[in-house]
Amino acid sequence: MPSLSKKSSGFTDSVIRRMTRIGDRYGAINLSQGFPDFDPPVEITRKLKEISMRGPHQYPITWGAKNFRDALAEKQAHFMGRKIDPETEIVVTCGSTEAMMTAMMSVVDPGDKVIVFSPFYENYGADAILTGATPIYVPLIPPEFNFDKNVLEEAFKQHPKALILCNPSNPSGKVFTYEELSFISELAIRYDTFVITDEVYEHIIYEPYEHIYISSLPGMYERTISCSSLSKTYSITGWRIGYIIACSEITERAKKVHDFLTVGAASPLMEAAVTGLEFPGSYYKELREHYTHMRDLFIKGLDDFGLVHSIPQGAYFVLVDVSEFGVKNDLRFCEWMAENVGVTAVPGSSFFKEDVNNYIRFHFAKKDETLKNALDRLSELKSKARCFKG
Ligand SMILES: Cc1ncc(COP(=O)(O)O)c(C=O)c1O
Repeated sequence: MPSLSKKSSGFTDSVIRRMTRIGDRYGAINLSQGFPDFDPPVEITRKLKEISMRGPHQYPITWGAKNFRDALAEKQAHFMGRKIDPETEIVVTCGSTEAMMTAMMSVVDPGDKVIVFSPFYENYGADAILTGATPIYVPLIPPEFNFDKNVLEEAFKQHPKALILCNPSNPSGKVFTYEELSFISELAIRYDTFVITDEVYEHIIYEPYEHIYISSLPGMYERTISCSSLSKTYSITGWRIGYIIACSEITERAKKVHDFLTVGAASPLMEAAVTGLEFPGSYYKELREHYTHMRDLFIKGLDDFGLVHSIPQGAYFVLVDVSEFGVKNDLRFCEWMAENVGVTAVPGSSFFKEDVNNYIRFHFAKKDETLKNALDRLSELKSKARCFKG
């Protein structure tokens, strides 16, 4: 057989999605891969049923159905605080996953450097390898997950083409402050660097934190490629609808890349999702309240068992510190936990560039009964972990 590509040998399969398969093998409760086990809003699924009979069923306009872009432009203009032209400033993609890859391919050439905060969502590593970029990792230091300004500036001095900003951040739950975003912006402008955002958790934020779009800071719109999606906001991770919002010079390129990668997002799903984009402001308030409830329920359970954990400011993940169990290999610990405790988590090492083995990540986008069952099982973690070797 001829040799396979070097690029594709440079990364493993997704550990997050692998943990789902391992958990399924043991009938474990899946708190590893972040997706809800509750239904999307009924208005959206009802609309999908109706559309299944009347269409559209054929290719959409490659950068997104017009009514979808119109509704998205209106919704995001409200939250991002600026007018968005649905014709020239939006590219609808297959999830934020494709948006990020399209963004990278639109601005990065092989050999370019890209700043990535660590811990980071694992896709960014593969995105960098597939686009030929070299990541410069800047640590977000636990337990606060702040960055050292000097370290960031040193990274900028290497003249990166782009910085990837996941805000709110997976897995740390960090929400970047205005002051931090201003600092990043000043450096991005000074060193002429793009910022590629991943803002899929833009509406999953816990008081008193607020999401600030870095594109809204002075001088940033022209150099920001804002990527996000409907996956988390409307509990439709399987629909694969995401988007890029950026100035027209950038979207011109992104439209071409996206066209040849996927042609377009699924037309019936875009059509049905318009219903969600048109929801009133109260929807987003209730979404926050719902997630705050799930976060508090899960965290209280962890506190009751005396487990040390992060407190997310946004997104829906908790990092639990497993140092007390003498864990040297967190992947083995997660596999052991799926089999012996019946709950799956993701080994923290798959998010950290640094040699960090003492965290495992749970997500809590689950029904109350699922979280309570999971907590029931986790109540035995401390006693069972005595039997875990290594
Ligand atoms: C930070 C982050 N970005 C992107 C995604 C995937 O988003 P999408 O479903 O829009 O591709 C996830 C999913 O967990 C995520 O956590």
